[in-house]
Amino acid sequence: MINIEKKFFKFEPPSMKPNLKVFWKKAKGFNIWNEKNQKCIDFTSSIFVSNIGHSNPTFKKKIKEVLNSPLSHSYVYYNKFRFEYIKKLIRFVGRKKLNKCYLMSSGTEATEAALKLMRLNGQKINKEKKGIISMNGSWHGRTLGALMMSGFKSQTNWIGYKDKNIYHIEFPYPWLLKNNSETFFRKSLEKTFGKRFNYKKKIAGIMLEAFQGWGSLFYPEKYIKCLIKFAKKNNILITMDEMQSGFARTGKKFAFEHYNFVPDIICCGKGMGSGMPLSGVITSSKIMDIQGGYLQSTHSANPLSCAAGIAVIDEIKNKKLVNKSKNLGNFFLKGLKKLQTDFPNIIGYAFGKGLVSALIMKKYKNLSSTSVADFVCHECYKNNILLVNTGRESIKFGPPLVINKNALKFSLKAIRKSLEKLQNKYENKKR
Ligand SMILES: Cc1ncc(COP(=O)(O)O)c(C=O)c1O
Repeated sequence: MINIEKKFFKFEPPSMKPNLKVFWKKAKGFNIWNEKNQKCIDFTSSIFVSNIGHSNPTFKKKIKEVLNSPLSHSYVYYNKFRFEYIKKLIRFVGRKKLNKCYLMSSGTEATEAALKLMRLNGQKINKEKKGIISMNGSWHGRTLGALMMSGFKSQTNWIGYKDKNIYHIEFPYPWLLKNNSETFFRKSLEKTFGKRFNYKKKIAGIMLEAFQGWGSLFYPEKYIKCLIKFAKKNNILITMDEMQSGFARTGKKFAFEHYNFVPDIICCGKGMGSGMPLSGVITSSKIMDIQGGYLQSTHSANPLSCAAGIAVIDEIKNKKLVNKSKNLGNFFLKGLKKLQTDFPNIIGYAFGKGLVSALIMKKYKNLSSTSVADFVCHECYKNNILLVNTGRESIKFGPPLVINKNALKFSLKAIRKSLEKLQNKYENKKR
């Protein structure tokens, strides 16, 4: 592996090094094989991309339809795959309010487009209505606007300036919230804006990650209720970034369904294209048809990506992946919570919905919480389980939705084994 890493690093930046050094030789269903043909259960889904399973036959067949046709790209000129997809996509979303889509290639473009739409629509009401509220600790992508909305200061310092119309408020972490959503929300606004801010005049939109990615942290329903009330009162648009959560990942088609409301805009990507670069914003005609949006890009809605999108929706429906994700997710989360009960000195929290979940580790003996997470990920990999090593105190679980109960049981055992090994290592040291 050292040699492989060296070979790649010769041509690529350090950020392209994975936390766990794994070479993917083959991926099929919910398994991956490394360069030594070690077969692993994949809990990454290639970072929430392969919801319908790796090397999915329906996906391959549909893409081949494009490859075998006499058309591979048509810029913004119309083509049949694009129409088939946009019609199917809007039907799949199934909400009156979300009746138009704009397709792109990467997630960060989608959140940028949402930022633009929220601002343009705000400024149409009054020129000063261009503020965007997002959350500390959330993630929306790596291009400038997306990065400025993301709540990680360390990643934005290089920009050298701050968009003074992008504001961050505190995320309702369970360890901060203490059950009072309304007070928490009001106080977090006051902390950022003071007591006399004119939200109606100055705020155009709120950008919400559907759940906070690194820890699979969902918002309490009450908190979202307060936020919706606030947005309505002040004529503010709500965007939900469904990049990780969309397309059946959380046991619903989209995570906004957990919160019993329909956002004004949703941003999708990752699992939307199952490996083909495909992302999109979905909203109403009223919001999308605004003058000055210039929503167009060279690869927008290209036939190959649209074909992939078609296969994704067909597979979600035909394989009943929404229900599968919900039921298997419930089973798996129960298992994680049992681990939390059995290893209270190592695991702080277990969170999740559907087939996305996380363990948040504690500092253990002289190991930092991040080192504990690293240890578990490395041990599990030795036992043929590839987990999402987030590079911080959490471990994430997001297998392809075609996984089965036996594979989940096997994985829970492997995680338990790694925790026992950690415990034994430190207990033996003490003696
Ligand atoms: C919630 C969320 N939004 C946006 C993005 C950016 O997507 P992409 O990496 O495709 O640009 C990501 C990617 O990790 C994400 O998790």
